[in-house]
Amino acid sequence: MIIDGLGASGIAREGEGWKRVVVEKPFGHDLKSARELNEVIHSVFKESQVYRIDHYLGKETVQNVLVFRFANGIFEPIWNRRYVDHIQITVAEDLGIELRGKYYESAGALRDIFQNHLLQLLSIAAMEPPPNFDADTVRDEKVKVLKAIHPIDVARDVVRGQYGPGWVGGQHVPGYREEPNVSPTSITETYIAVRLKVDNWRWADTPFYLRTGKRLPSRASEIAIQFKTAPHLPFAKTAVQGLTPNVLVMRIQPHEGASLKIAAKIPGPVMRLRTVNMDFFYGSAFLVESPDAYERLVLDCMLGDPTLFAREDEVERAWGLVDHIEEGLAQQPAAGFPNYAAGAWGPEAADALIESDGRRWRRP
Ligand code: BG6
Repeated sequence: MIIDGLGASGIAREGEGWKRVVVEKPFGHDLKSARELNEVIHSVFKESQVYRIDHYLGKETVQNVLVFRFANGIFEPIWNRRYVDHIQITVAEDLGIELRGKYYESAGALRDIFQNHLLQLLSIAAMEPPPNFDADTVRDEKVKVLKAIHPIDVARDVVRGQYGPGWVGGQHVPGYREEPNVSPTSITETYIAVRLKVDNWRWADTPFYLRTGKRLPSRASEIAIQFKTAPHLPFAKTAVQGLTPNVLVMRIQPHEGASLKIAAKIPGPVMRLRTVNMDFFYGSAFLVESPDAYERLVLDCMLGDPTLFAREDEVERAWGLVDHIEEGLAQQPAAGFPNYAAGAWGPEAADALIESDGRRWRRP
């Protein structure tokens, strides 16, 4: 193994200058293998020398969620169960598996995206304000979120899907089972939706809906905070028809930025209201291209700043959740794959999951 080789060669020993190792995901396959991998790495490197990459943390827009929350006075006071109805976190891709059949067959959406990117977005959206931006202070707060996740009732709270043939972006595309290096009877999921709760004072009873899928209609990663409706509307029923609740959408990609849906009066002599967007776009606000996530992360590694890297306990917690979901899914009857056509927003059961709570998935 590479790590053993680095150890044997003596190159990992810190004498003059620093020695660091960057590890790219997948960081293990389950909790057991992640622990084994951590053990191997720690036999050669100290934790402070280990940089586990989750490239989502290198995205400007993900870091901006922290700035948005903790550098503005107006959001944090309402960022809690009293004002927030629910939160939707989406990593949607129109891409398929891009000739990575061999890897994807053993990963699926749960390991490929939920274990890392989705849980990172959840931690950042739900964490408490850190007292400072030191690497361990920030990561301590993120780990606390993972520790506070209420045990997931897999039969009730998880829906998986696999795409069949369909149309994406005007092109006919094959189903997952027809992709190269994929079994024609594969039961690997290419879509997963999870409803979960974070058991703490800030979030008690506030549902978080997380979903990711391949071959969905569009590429869109976002965190959407849906607020509760106004307690009383002093307008005629006809005036407020079609009004939707306030939603703050942090657009990770594309159209990087944020938008807030608010009610506004439609100009004219009659009082009629409509929902409009207040928008912030990175492109027009800063007029510069954001650096690639990996550029930022490799630079941080060279500078010795691990804030945007996954710590050992964070990775293991995330795998613990994934193992729990896997075990629950293994007890369920086969899901009847494929259960969504390429180009659809996932399986119908995922709509049913959120609609049973009287809510709907966003269509970003
Ligand atoms: C990777 C996954 O980690 O993230 C891929 O292995 C996925 O399956 C990719 O396509 C998505 O990254 P991005 O930056 O395009 O959202």
